[in-house]
Amino acid sequence: MVKITNFGGYRQYVLESAELRVSVMELGATVTGIDFRGRRVGLGYAEAEDYLTHGAYLGAIVGRFANRIGGAAFTLEGREYRLVPNEGKNQLHGGPEGFHRRLWTPIVKSGTEALFRLTSPDGDMGFPGQLEAEVCYQLEGNALRISYRVSCTEATPVSLTNHSYFNLAGHAAGPVDDHRLMLRADAYTPSDEEMIPTGEIRPAEGTPLDLREPVRLGSLWDLPELARTRGLDHNFVLRGGEGPAAVLTDPEGRLSLEVYTDRPAMQVYTAGFLKEGPGKDGAHYGPHHAVCLETQAFPDAVNRPEFPSCILRPGGTWESETVYRFEGAGIAKGRRAQMIYL
Ligand code: GLA
Repeated sequence: MVKITNFGGYRQYVLESAELRVSVMELGATVTGIDFRGRRVGLGYAEAEDYLTHGAYLGAIVGRFANRIGGAAFTLEGREYRLVPNEGKNQLHGGPEGFHRRLWTPIVKSGTEALFRLTSPDGDMGFPGQLEAEVCYQLEGNALRISYRVSCTEATPVSLTNHSYFNLAGHAAGPVDDHRLMLRADAYTPSDEEMIPTGEIRPAEGTPLDLREPVRLGSLWDLPELARTRGLDHNFVLRGGEGPAAVLTDPEGRLSLEVYTDRPAMQVYTAGFLKEGPGKDGAHYGPHHAVCLETQAFPDAVNRPEFPSCILRPGGTWESETVYRFEGAGIAKGRRAQMIYL
């Protein structure tokens, strides 16, 4: 059965397969640790408290709507809704008390599967209708599958994601300059100074955002086009179909992470604004120490009829899956996780 531990007063569930060990706590249904064959490949804070104070959404489930809604407002079925803003006049990641700060109700299924439930009341952070959300974490050998299931009582925008920070060289290995990233994305959505999409869907070809062939991340930090975002913090339009949406590879080319999703887009954030501070096991984290691969709806889709719809209506179910699969050609098999979680 699943191991249940106490992490700073929150229940934490440790799922284990032969290759992966993933811990998730009830606060924010947050992934607090990911070990692949003994290597900790996801950043995690030492103290549960840090998850509430650092504002980086580390490992958390983000909702009701991942990324930004311009002007923290939208009109839906003839009614105007004002959301609670938390980034200037805009709303980021569901607002100041988004799903990442909620206590989810855990339902343990087995040693490799844990489900978390949350009720978001009508008017939560300004959003219409009551929402019932379920997030299921499942280990399948070398893969972590995250499945979402959401229903509502009124039409509302919905886009849940997981905001894990990956460093395949190990969570304490420092900047990810020598990681390589490939994206199956032919376009991205340019945004203004406040990171709100302009509405354009721009081909990636001929721009620094063409990652269709693997790119060394360190080569992006100093590009003038990416100065404002200190590297990547962009919404990529995924090509869809078979194959991974993204492949991230460690500096030695021995460990890679493939991301599969049914979402139309992915926010790739190279953590240019991650604050200096302590992580688990005495690690020190800082800018560019990780990559977030956040599968999502297009940012501000609720205000952009030209973007794919993000609206869930009563009677409907929003179902989505994202799979993070680790491939470790050069990483010894059978070396089980040795890290101590508390
Ligand atoms: C997303 C956003 C970033 C930033 C991070 C969290 O990736 O796009 O701008 O807010 O989350 O720090």
